[in-house]
Amino acid sequence: MLKKLCDKLKNTHFIRDYSQMWQYIRPYWGRALIAVLITVPIGALDAVIAWALKPYMDVMMIEQNTQTLWIPLVIIAFSALQGVLTFSATYCNNWVGNRIANDVKMTLFEKLMKFDAGFFDTNTSGNIIMRFNNDVDAACSGLLSNLKQFCTRFFSSVSLVVVLFYNSWKLALIAVVMLFCALFPLTRVRRRIKDINQETLFTNGEVMTHYNEAYGGNRIISSYNLYDYEYKRFDGTLTRVFKLGMKMVQRTGMLSPFMHFVVSLGIALVIWTGSSLILSHQITPGNFVSFIAALILLYNPIKSIGNSFNNVQVALMAMERVFELLGNTPEIRDRDDAVELTGVNKGIEYKNVGFEYVPNKPVLQNINLKIKRGETIALVGNSGGGKSTFVSLLPRFYDVTDGQILIDGQDIRNYTLESLRDKISVVFQDNFLFSGTIRDNILLGNENATPEELNHAVEMAFVQDFLKNLPKGLDTDIGERGTLLSGGQRQRIAIARAFIKNAPIVVLDEATSALDNKSEAVVQKAIENLMKDRTVIVIAHRLSTVRHADKIVVINYGKIVESGTHDELVNQPDGIYASLYKAQLK
Ligand SMILES: Nc1ncnc2c1ncn2[C@@H]1O[C@H](COP(=O)(O)OP(=O)(O)O)[C@@H](O)[C@H]1O
Ligand SMILES: [Mg+2]
Repeated sequence: MLKKLCDKLKNTHFIRDYSQMWQYIRPYWGRALIAVLITVPIGALDAVIAWALKPYMDVMMIEQNTQTLWIPLVIIAFSALQGVLTFSATYCNNWVGNRIANDVKMTLFEKLMKFDAGFFDTNTSGNIIMRFNNDVDAACSGLLSNLKQFCTRFFSSVSLVVVLFYNSWKLALIAVVMLFCALFPLTRVRRRIKDINQETLFTNGEVMTHYNEAYGGNRIISSYNLYDYEYKRFDGTLTRVFKLGMKMVQRTGMLSPFMHFVVSLGIALVIWTGSSLILSHQITPGNFVSFIAALILLYNPIKSIGNSFNNVQVALMAMERVFELLGNTPEIRDRDDAVELTGVNKGIEYKNVGFEYVPNKPVLQNINLKIKRGETIALVGNSGGGKSTFVSLLPRFYDVTDGQILIDGQDIRNYTLESLRDKISVVFQDNFLFSGTIRDNILLGNENATPEELNHAVEMAFVQDFLKNLPKGLDTDIGERGTLLSGGQRQRIAIARAFIKNAPIVVLDEATSALDNKSEAVVQKAIENLMKDRTVIVIAHRLSTVRHADKIVVINYGKIVESGTHDELVNQPDGIYASLYKAQLK
């Protein structure tokens, strides 16, 4: 019977989920144990005070005996001890809680960076902050401090109940029955708040996203006068947070008042019964005073044990979400027998490649293309046709849903991700620059680059041109996301970064599309330097920049519809490339 119960417990979600926590607690288990154990005496000391009142009343007040004058001193001493212990518990708790939270955050952050591109498509930035940061705080520090409170209150209650029975079991029975009635609703809290809690979390994430958008999109907001629009959206989200908060209060707020009421009922009943017990000499007045003191002292922990229990539940739910993230492994990862890609000798091949972001909505279909080492392939076609998707499959930002991509005859999924991505430099239309200096950002391409290599990259990418005008040169701070630079300057830094990485494959996705003609010319020259002696896939808006490619591939609505050199394609009657080219010449 008992064994069956144990097995059942082991198989529940509960044990399986929370036992994962152990690996994070283990390094600090000593202090964590102390933090929990301290709550026993803290709680129990409440009882000493109540208990001491009985001898004091009976001996001092009734018998007028002065022997018991030491009792107040005992009460003072115990209270002081309680204070010291409480401080130690709080300190210990915070120390352990924050340490564990940091460890979990580090693990999650590492995971976050390695998640598939698809994860970031479906999660907002606010959502990620909530789940990777705030949830961890709630789950670790929050759980421990709430657990501490809960335990303190629990032990305080238990020891006070002992004092109750010590003084009179009849009265104690009445009190205990009432307490059970008062505590019963607690068992149903979790079910009542679970869905609201989840929703609150997501809505709070949305609030965070609004701030991010106000920050990142402030230029657009100003230029399109989106103040009202954004204001209303923010208001809508805040209103939802408010409503959820109030719903939470509706479902839990009645708990404390209800318990308050039941407990007062109990006290009334006890006084009534107690008086008759004294009159019939079944208990002494000292017993009664001590009993009432214990009962009143009991009221506080019992009252707030409800809140602590709620908070522990909320923390446990956060922990479940954290575990969900921890258990999440990216789908795009190394195979067990993955090999290093050391270089590109023959070339790249797309073989019957198909891809869909959303099931049954193909974005690329039946793509076949061979790219020899050292060749430059240009992709053109309608906007939304799948060109960016085509190139994002190569560094495995996404995996193909059909067919395969080969490098030197091997499926790219057989190479380690690190070595594969190491061989590909990607320059996008809008490149992310990190806060820091220009030098920091360029060296991201290869932190071990020599000063000569750095200088070479700076020169080849025409970063030199604008460095001259910066008093601090390479050590100029570029602001968050490089906001202190012009688009062309940011682009040239990105190209220098790709240069210093020195990868054999270069992917350029509309690298000059966002620029005005003058900066485009410089960036174009930088790009030509970067393309030398490498295998290149270039997506370009302006056809003048692709005409020298070895092969031009037209991708329309997810399919390759034409391919050939500029000269072959431009003269084809009814050719798509030919008509695009003519349209641009005008
Ligand atoms: N992360 C994504 N999730 C879902 N659909 C996407 C995603 N990125 C692009 N798409 C869709 O895939 C199609 C191809 O997009 P894309 O490859 O960016 O085209 P192009 O670069 O040729 O303009 C478009 O219909 C686009 O809406
Ligand atoms: Mg694109």
